[in-house]
Amino acid sequence: MEQLVDEIAALRRRLGEAVCVMGHHYQNDAIVSFCDVTGDSLELARRVPGIRARHIVFCGVHFMGESAALLASPEQSVHAPAPDADCEMARMAPAAQARATLERLRALGRRVTPLAYVNTTLALKAVVGEFGGAVCTSANAETMLRWALEQGDGVLFLPDRNLGRNTARRLGIGEDEQHTIALDARGLDPAEETRPGLRRRLLLWPGCCPIHDVIPADAVRRAREAFPGCVVAAHPECSPELIDACDGAGSTSYLIKEAQRLAESPTPPVFVVGTEINLVNRLAGRLEGRCRIVPLASDALCPDMAKITLRHLRDCLAAVEKRVAVPLRVDPALAAPARATLDRMLRVCG
Ligand code: 13P
Ligand code: SF4
Repeated sequence: MEQLVDEIAALRRRLGEAVCVMGHHYQNDAIVSFCDVTGDSLELARRVPGIRARHIVFCGVHFMGESAALLASPEQSVHAPAPDADCEMARMAPAAQARATLERLRALGRRVTPLAYVNTTLALKAVVGEFGGAVCTSANAETMLRWALEQGDGVLFLPDRNLGRNTARRLGIGEDEQHTIALDARGLDPAEETRPGLRRRLLLWPGCCPIHDVIPADAVRRAREAFPGCVVAAHPECSPELIDACDGAGSTSYLIKEAQRLAESPTPPVFVVGTEINLVNRLAGRLEGRCRIVPLASDALCPDMAKITLRHLRDCLAAVEKRVAVPLRVDPALAAPARATLDRMLRVCG
């Protein structure tokens, strides 16, 4: 480990300003210590156009690297240290199935605007772009859902039904205005076509984050019993039942800011945080002695984020130095419609 750290430090020194290492908050501490930029999905996407380095080494799951590659300039290359680090939620919305569903909804007379969580493949984003839709992140889902609802006669939110339902609640959209669609292998389940639910304002794709979705709502009650007076907040990929029991919910950056805010209060409460364990443990370490941070689910580890190790980072930087690194390739046929979804998000959210 020590040798790897030294090697990475030496590579970074030699590469100087030619390389910028970006990392998501769910990366482990060792990787984060080498990141020039860390952030939630929205912050990382926003920062890309301002980066001058010739090479971006992106430590996060595949869709995040793809978004960076889409937003990078033509002279820049984006590298993924562990190309098999994918997002399980992103895999739940295959582009062909989404296209068939949107086409069927159109044929049934619906003018539905697709709104995709940024946790989706480039191919899915391209489909969403073709149908006039946009992407959103957990940090701007409310703004983007409001925007999408103004575009047609309804919205198809995909792939995370939890984020969709949690955001709808914040906008005062009742359960009776929402419908989680049923799918078959090709697209919309034909049985859906006659269901009244399909006419509702907000249609939800039946996907979720397997790491956040399985945290039971009851964990909040147990945390409050264990730590009377505690504050509980969680990521909105958790179920609406869990989020309802919390004091707050938001993106990874929101959770970090909330922890800092509570640490600065005169009598900091115990802060129970419901999200990926790497971030919660890092916060606990950073704020030790100032605010006690406790995980809502100590086994909430994203196995894909964890695929990126120091060895991967070292090998990636070494390949960049030797000019043999293979950058993430954006299919030119998908680039324009996919970029349109990201541009719409960045424009609507300023
Ligand atoms: P954020 O956008 O809040 O960083 O979340 C990304 C993610 O993958 C959460 O599971
Ligand atoms: Fe995807 Fe869930 Fe991992 Fe986030 S925590 S990257 S949504 S699988």
